[in-house]
Amino acid sequence: MFRFAAVLLMLVAPSLLLIENSGQIGVKNMKDPKCPPRKKNFAALTGHICQRSCERRSCSKQRNCVCDGDCGLSCIPPGLSCPWPVMIENAETQMAQESNTFGDFMRVTCHPRFIMHNGQDVAMSRCQGDGKWSFTAPCEDSLNLSSVCKPPPEIENGFHESGPYKVGKTVTYECNYGYQLEGASTLLCQENEEWSHAAPTCHPVNCSQPPNIAHATLVAVHKPEHPVGTVIYYLCNKDFYLDGSERVVCLENGSWSQLPHCRARCPISAQRSRVIYNGRKLWINEIPAGLVHHGETVKFFCRSQNKTCSFEAESQCFDGVLKTPDCYDEPTYLQYHLFPKRVVSEIPAC
Ligand SMILES: *[C@@H]1O[C@H](CO)[C@@H](O)[C@H](O)[C@H]1NC(C)=O
Ligand SMILES: *[C@@H]1O[C@H](CO)[C@@H](O)[C@H](O)[C@H]1NC(C)=O
Ligand SMILES: *[C@@H]1O[C@H](CO)[C@@H](O)[C@H](O)[C@H]1NC(C)=O
Ligand SMILES: *[C@@H]1O[C@H](CO)[C@@H](O)[C@H](O)[C@H]1NC(C)=O
Repeated sequence: MFRFAAVLLMLVAPSLLLIENSGQIGVKNMKDPKCPPRKKNFAALTGHICQRSCERRSCSKQRNCVCDGDCGLSCIPPGLSCPWPVMIENAETQMAQESNTFGDFMRVTCHPRFIMHNGQDVAMSRCQGDGKWSFTAPCEDSLNLSSVCKPPPEIENGFHESGPYKVGKTVTYECNYGYQLEGASTLLCQENEEWSHAAPTCHPVNCSQPPNIAHATLVAVHKPEHPVGTVIYYLCNKDFYLDGSERVVCLENGSWSQLPHCRARCPISAQRSRVIYNGRKLWINEIPAGLVHHGETVKFFCRSQNKTCSFEAESQCFDGVLKTPDCYDEPTYLQYHLFPKRVVSEIPAC
């Protein structure tokens, strides 16, 4: 009963948390529909270092939860600024507003005849959460920039490395969390200034229907699809022991995280001698239902070689099976009824 209540609480808790967060952080930021979720491997591909994410939790007191472009909602110290002035080769730089703090823009204008690798001659560079400008690449001589490919296509639910896209260079695509790449992940800028492959596509990943587990009840929302991140719970039926985690998650590769087992209790095979269970020496009828729980150990009594004394031999219950130690001999009906003081568990210990 207690476990069931705990699970219900866990199922309800995430939504409570969200309500709490939106009050605490400020409705403006949490509800910003334009802030994209953080992109996977974004830092590795672009060199932009993302600050701690606050998509699911709040920031420390000294930081605000704000949108940091493709890093998504991030914890940014207030008053963070980017260097100024900035020198960019073959270009003029100009602040787009009064300040050079987080979220502000700098206008980069190439000198006449010079262009950027994307073919443009003006760019807006953003002051990012890592204290750097998003764009500081030099402008290049347009007479000299013949051997580049056009920027590779943008794709839904994925992104690619930034340029320059020179002949002989490759560009790699990644999909967002929960999406799977289909097609070529890496494109080469060829001599003919065309990309070697079509851009890949990103498809949502789903897990299969949650499997049934013997002696367990599945707690899950009934849905035809189980996208990455879906959480389900398994509750073991009465008298079964949960071996593993009751919480199972749909992983990025479309498989469920490790499934638990529900382990059965074990009957004790010694009917006519006592055993040691939970530190106490007991007859079988003193143990509730004559069963011990999965993982518990029971000590049996075995007779010494010369038959004068007894020693203990241990066995562990595993999913309904408690093996009797090889040295244990069950007393016969007559031994047990006629000479109860002489059964193996009642003679002196060696
Ligand atoms: C490209 O331009 C640079 C100067 O901007 C120059 O040094 C270089 O020789 C040029 N290369 C070619 C292939 O024209
Ligand atoms: C996964 O589910 C989404 C909807 O959530 C669906 O559009 C997509 O086709 C599914 N993908 C696969 C591989 O079944
Ligand atoms: C999916 O990922 C998990 C954890 O990374 C791994 O244990 C499991 O074997 C993977 N499954 C498949 C089918 O690749
Ligand atoms: C019988 O064996 C046990 C140990 O195996 C020993 O402690 C005990 O002294 C022996 N008794 C006799 C009477 O030999």
